[in-house]
Amino acid sequence: MTALHRREFLRRFGLSAAGAVSLTRGTRSQSHRTSADVELELRAAPSTVALLPGSPTRVWSYSGRVIKGPPTTIQTMTQSYGGPILRLQHGQRVRIQLVNDLPEPTIVHWHGLDVPEQADGHPRLAIGSGQRYTYEFEVINRAGTYWYHPHPHMRTGSQVMHGLAGIILVSDGVEAAHKLPAGADEIVCVLQDRRFDERNQFVYTSGMSIGMMGMPTEMMTGFLGDRVLVNGRLPETLSLATRPYRVRLMNGSNSRVYKLAWSDDGPITVIGTDGGLLERPVTRRYLTLAPGERVDTILDLSSRPVGTRLTLRSLAFPSSLFDLPMGGGRGRGRGMGRGMARAATSQSLPMGAPLDLLPVSVDRREHTRFALPPRLSTFEPAWQPPPGVPTRTVRIDFHRMRFFLNGRDFDLADVAEEETVKAGSTHIWEFDNRASGSRGMMASMRMGHPIHLHGRQFRVLRRQIDPEYAPDYRSLSEGFVDEGWKDTVLVMPGERVQVLVQFSRYPGLFLYHCHNLEHEDMGMMRNYRIV
Ligand code: C2O
Ligand code: CU
Ligand code: CU
Repeated sequence: MTALHRREFLRRFGLSAAGAVSLTRGTRSQSHRTSADVELELRAAPSTVALLPGSPTRVWSYSGRVIKGPPTTIQTMTQSYGGPILRLQHGQRVRIQLVNDLPEPTIVHWHGLDVPEQADGHPRLAIGSGQRYTYEFEVINRAGTYWYHPHPHMRTGSQVMHGLAGIILVSDGVEAAHKLPAGADEIVCVLQDRRFDERNQFVYTSGMSIGMMGMPTEMMTGFLGDRVLVNGRLPETLSLATRPYRVRLMNGSNSRVYKLAWSDDGPITVIGTDGGLLERPVTRRYLTLAPGERVDTILDLSSRPVGTRLTLRSLAFPSSLFDLPMGGGRGRGRGMGRGMARAATSQSLPMGAPLDLLPVSVDRREHTRFALPPRLSTFEPAWQPPPGVPTRTVRIDFHRMRFFLNGRDFDLADVAEEETVKAGSTHIWEFDNRASGSRGMMASMRMGHPIHLHGRQFRVLRRQIDPEYAPDYRSLSEGFVDEGWKDTVLVMPGERVQVLVQFSRYPGLFLYHCHNLEHEDMGMMRNYRIV
């Protein structure tokens, strides 16, 4: 690591938040023009929670309060740092007051929701300690599993890791008609890996804690913990009955990818993805879930004998898919990055390590009648690209120890011409993770990136994998669910992924970025403008 790289690194991780605040003074209060159906207060504040035996863990977490609307809009998580589940209905006009009781700037983003610019949580809208921000939007999304999390400039990874994130469940008439398992038969699982020190406090390798030692490899590959929490607490065995359950899975980890399967190796029935219900159910042997992605499934225990035990697991896959060998070789610990990798990641579990996530025990016999409808929803617009649709390539490249999108990194205000689109227009965007030549040094600097577009659900049109990468690729690719609406897509090393996106009708400045939060914070993010 050269002195130049270190300076650049410190500049990017240093007192960066201050800049964000000074840019945003005066943008925080909006007039309360419209009358809302639902009004909530969401407070971000430091807190403590007993996560492990012994000392409680200091966390940052969201707490919510219903000011107006159904009291069931907010469902608090107990003994957890997880934010409350927000239950919204399609068509509701929502007002949310964010209160920042954190010691640093923050702003909330509603991941997956199509909202106006002022409600999207762009980092330039961050508010300082003690300030409020009022969001106003109408829920125009389909029923589905969405989520919310902070989005301040260069501090997203740290704030999410310390506990700031929560689930949004949107419902609508189409979904309600299916009478899917609900109430106690609906299980929401937010998967997040964490690391604790000997005093039960979270360990997060921020740039500043590494100081002049050089840029930690961990910040390039992303944060990895050594255990996985479910819904912001240690997983406990779920006691279930012989009936069908709806299991919604969300990867809220900073960078870890999961290869999810039940321990009986049975096929998993998938009914939805990031943007809600599929057209019809599909099955998978396992599910690949990258940071930011959600998948909606049915776990039917009707024919299981009482006493059955099952575990939701993450299966093993090659860590080379998400690792930077730093010098030509494949796999962690080879080449010039070895020393740094050891220092920064000695206690973390490598990506691709097998994990037990959630134990389930079938304890009661109960009969319910539930038949999964063969048709779940209708996709509009049709997902075939219209003739003459503009195609644009977003190249993922790596140089000077960082990832870039088309050679550019993030700037609060910068938008290139090719990043400007017309409201409501349809485009193909191709994310190319094989750019800059596919051989040699550059080829070994490639890892998978979950690419996310704000404000829109898109369709995955096409994936093409470089033959060189195909063997490892296949250890995860069968777990993709590309049949549904997506707002985050995992682009594997050596892969090109084309998505079809019809941009929002809301004009303004929105973001697209890698949802590996360390990558995002280091600038693997860009604005796009809707005009
Ligand atoms: Cu969930 Cu800009 O991200
Ligand atoms: Cu988002
Ligand atoms: Cu990335």
